[in-house]
Amino acid sequence: MTELPSSSAKHRAVREMFDTIAPRYDLVNRVMTLRLDVVWRRRAARDLGLPPGSRVADLACGTGDFCRELTRLGHRPVGFDFSMGMLRAAPAGRAPAPLVNADVLDLPLPDGVLDGAACGFALRNLTAIPPLFAELARVTRAGGRIGLLEVDSPANPVLRWGHGVYFGRVVPVIGSLLSDRRAYRYLPQSVAYLPAAEVLVDELRAAGFVAVHRRQLSAGIAQLITATRS
Ligand SMILES: C[S@@+](CC[C@H](N)C(=O)[O-])C[C@H]1O[C@@H](n2cnc3c(N)ncnc32)[C@H](O)[C@@H]1O
Repeated sequence: MTELPSSSAKHRAVREMFDTIAPRYDLVNRVMTLRLDVVWRRRAARDLGLPPGSRVADLACGTGDFCRELTRLGHRPVGFDFSMGMLRAAPAGRAPAPLVNADVLDLPLPDGVLDGAACGFALRNLTAIPPLFAELARVTRAGGRIGLLEVDSPANPVLRWGHGVYFGRVVPVIGSLLSDRRAYRYLPQSVAYLPAAEVLVDELRAAGFVAVHRRQLSAGIAQLITATRS
């Protein structure tokens, strides 16, 4: 494994990487997950359990895929991402959602303004995860809901092995054929930044969330954590 950057070097490297892969980001996602990424976001948006009209942020929104699912449910989404490339690559007319160029660790939002927030596949790209949870706790009202999607690894050893081969060897090939080889080598490696599930759950509780619930999706290749702001 090549050495992964940390702190400010990681912040810059991640932003530049997403700027680079933005034009074909959605295409590669659909191909490499066989469109399961769409199913996972739809499930996460639904599991927020918020009534239509809720103000919900899509944190690290990329090209705004979560915003589309939130709009489908009648919510009023707003996306935040620090990569201008990703925001520019959002398909025109995808959702009538404002997309804001901002760091999710320092959101341009007042306290308690959100009914909910969703975040897809971004935790391992952050320089640190607890500051995001603190920011989520700040901007979400009491009783508001959050849903976090991330990659995961199946518990079953055979599936785990197969998934390891696919994620570690096939994904970089798909990525290099359709997009950028270096970025899609980073993707499987970046899982090393992701803490164990119990740590994520404990950190969310410490930040002020209750009813923290984690479930694996699609035989364990993805995970969804939902929680309620206390
Ligand atoms: C793997 S993409 C996920 C995009 C989208 N959420 C999705 O579900 O496809 C990770 C995104 O996180 C963004 N990101 C990473 N760190 C960030 C930060 N500190 N502030 C804002 N965006 C960040 C990147 O620019 C990138 O668009």
